[in-house]
Amino acid sequence: MTVNSQHAFNVSVLISGQGSNLQAIINAISDHQLPVNIVNVISNREDVPGLQRAQRAGIETVVISKHAYADRNQFDHALAKALSKTPADLFVLAGFMHILPDSIVTPYLGKMINIHPSLLPKYRGLHTHQQVLTNGDKYHGTTVHLVTPTLDAGPIIAQARFDVASDLTADSLKAQCQQLEHRLLPKVIGWFAEQRLCYQDDLLLFDQHPLPTCGIQLDQHDLFPCA
Ligand code: GRF
Repeated sequence: MTVNSQHAFNVSVLISGQGSNLQAIINAISDHQLPVNIVNVISNREDVPGLQRAQRAGIETVVISKHAYADRNQFDHALAKALSKTPADLFVLAGFMHILPDSIVTPYLGKMINIHPSLLPKYRGLHTHQQVLTNGDKYHGTTVHLVTPTLDAGPIIAQARFDVASDLTADSLKAQCQQLEHRLLPKVIGWFAEQRLCYQDDLLLFDQHPLPTCGIQLDQHDLFPCA
């Protein structure tokens, strides 16, 4: 899927499932809101809806299924090989359900981002929506961060938050959270493509200024200005 073939900013998207964030990226490109080229979609699961979304958009797909490898090391080796063969300026983990070893993460420091469904540093790992409910949090949201060897702990690029209404379920929180994700992730990728955002000398820079540790803070009105 090519937008501007001459100086395209190449992105690889890693998925494991639904691929609704992948679809949001594809839609932003089709709507001329995001000047990037998706070079491939890499999935660690076969037959997931995200792969069909990629195929419908004419994007190359690469499947590296755990079932095809004797152990985790061999799987990681195959994944590392696929990444090294991918000519991407940015690797986007969009629902990629695999904890990457240091050996894969370190070479891509500053070039690999993840979207996580919580306001990090709160709730690393799984079941974030339920934890928000259990703890009676007033706010919930999503974070895009750089991937570093420690799970969900890399420098925060941007967060989008919303007020948690009463009588919500984990599923409805997830749906609300994903609406924000579908705006936030293409926005952050666009900042990289426009070179407004970059990682230099261990610092995340936005318009050449270091980002605060909480990253760029947005809310639903920033992402849905007409709502
Ligand atoms: C997203 O909510 C993301 O935050 C988390 O996994 C989910 C993936 O959803 N890391 P989808 O596959 O993009 O629909």
